[in-house]
Parts: sequence; structure tokens; C-alpha cells
Amino acid sequence: MEDWSHCLDVAVQIALRAGQVVQSAVKQEKQVSSKSTPTDLVTEADHQVEELIISTLREKYPSHGFIGEESSAAGVTCELTDDPTWIIDPIDGTCNFVHSFPMVAVSIGFAVRKELELGVIYHCFDGTLYTARKGHGAFCNGVRLQVSKEKDVSKALILTEIGAKRDPATLDIFLGNMKKLLSAPTHGVRIIGSSTLALCHIASGAAEAYYQYGLHCWDIAAAAVIIREAGGYVIDTTGGPLDLMSRRVVAAGTRQIADYVVKQLQPINYGRDDLT
Ligand code: IPD
Repeated sequence: MEDWSHCLDVAVQIALRAGQVVQSAVKQEKQVSSKSTPTDLVTEADHQVEELIISTLREKYPSHGFIGEESSAAGVTCELTDDPTWIIDPIDGTCNFVHSFPMVAVSIGFAVRKELELGVIYHCFDGTLYTARKGHGAFCNGVRLQVSKEKDVSKALILTEIGAKRDPATLDIFLGNMKKLLSAPTHGVRIIGSSTLALCHIASGAAEAYYQYGLHCWDIAAAAVIIREAGGYVIDTTGGPLDLMSRRVVAAGTRQIADYVVKQLQPINYGRDDLT
């Protein structure tokens, strides 16, 4: 088995550098535009940070593949092959970034033969660094992470994100799903505006479950390794194995809570990352 520890070290250094760029950009005037929908935002900083991350990694690993949020938005094919591939969200929580709402992260995942091998997520506002490598545990600022072992959904805190579609039919399903999970009853449902950081809260045990329709492979890749290495589950909303390109996910500390969430959800169709 190949040792990818050098890739983790490199990813950490780049995430920290990228985080510094985000920290300084957040204080400046932002040039904001939209992508797939009026609420799917992008800024100059998203492009700048993605370029920094990909060019640095490409110099180090010229034979590796790259999937990046802004490259994909610009038309680069989003295809996961067997090649070692970096999966990058330069600024996760772009809407938060635009408003200086302090939930913004740099996310770098890495897959080999379509298997997720490592993940690094850097919280740009508070400097928290989440890291994991398959088979070697998950850490937050060097301290080992452990998911919540809660099995009783009535004691669960659930996280979700809205996704970019806001048409009435989509919102009805979104709110219906949330209503079912609130009326279980659970302790509550939270939306923080960054899917990667929400998923890190599952890894740290601060919340019991996460579900979403409409996120992308770059929102899940790094976080999936971190959650699994912290002892948790990252699966499809149907209850089957995670399909990284499917734009849907359920994550939880225990299989019991994951299964409960799966049973409550009515699907929202966002298509696939590898078909756009
Ligand atoms: C988005 C955020 C948002 C979630 C979207 C993501 P971006 O990422 O995580 O909370 O609802 O599905 O795509 O566009 O800020 O990188």
C-alpha cells in the first residue's frame, strides 16, 4: 500500500497558505458574481485561492489530477479517474465569506483509484485545522477526533445546508425534510452556511448527523475521510454507499442515526457533478 503521508503534509501547508489569503481577502471589497443560480456565489478570491492551491500542487505532483470548484464552474470536466486526484473547494461558505459571516473554510481532499485517502479542512476565521488520512485517524489541531456515539435520535442535533435551488417546489421538500427531523423530535436542526465545516462538526461529535441535497464532490471529499477516521458514517441519502458525484449525502456518528435520517428524507434532484 502506498504511503500518502507526504501528500497530507503538503496539503496542510497549502491549506494554511490559502487560509491566509482568505483571511486578508475577507477584509477587502469583494467582487461578487453568481454561477448556477442567483444564490450560488463566487468571488475573485475563490478563483485566486483555487489557482494558488492547484498551481502549487501541480508543481509538486505534475502527474496528479485535479477537480476544483471554480475550474468545474468554468467548464473543466469533473471526472474522478483512478489517477491520484486532488478535490478542492478553495472557499467553502462563499456566501458567508461575502458577508464576513465567520464560517468559511478551505477544503482539500485526495483520492486514489477513486478511494478517498486524505482530507484537510482549514477554518479560515478561527484557525481550526481538521486533518485525516485513511487508516491513521482524524485530528483537530493535532487532537484526535471522535464522533458522537449517540443512537437515540431524540437526543440528536442535526445539521443541514440549503443548497442553491430556491424554487417553491424545492423549498417545500427542503422544509418538509427539516420539519420531519425537527418533529422526531430531535434537539434541533442547524444551518451554518458551510457544508465542510458542518461535516467537521459531525467528526468532532458536536452534532449527531448531517444531510444535504445539492452539495458537490469538493464539499464532501475531505470531510468524508475526516468523519470516517473519527469513527462515523458517510453514506448516500438512500442508505447505500456514498457516491461522491451524486450531490447528496448523509453523515452521522452512528449507523442508527444515519438510518433514521435516511428514512425521513424526500429526495431533491440536483443532477450529478460528473454529468455537467
Ligand atoms: C456551498 C456551501 C453551502 C452549501 C452548498 C455548497 P460554496 O459551498 O457549503 O453551505 O449549501 O451546497 O456548495 O459554494 O460556498 O463553496
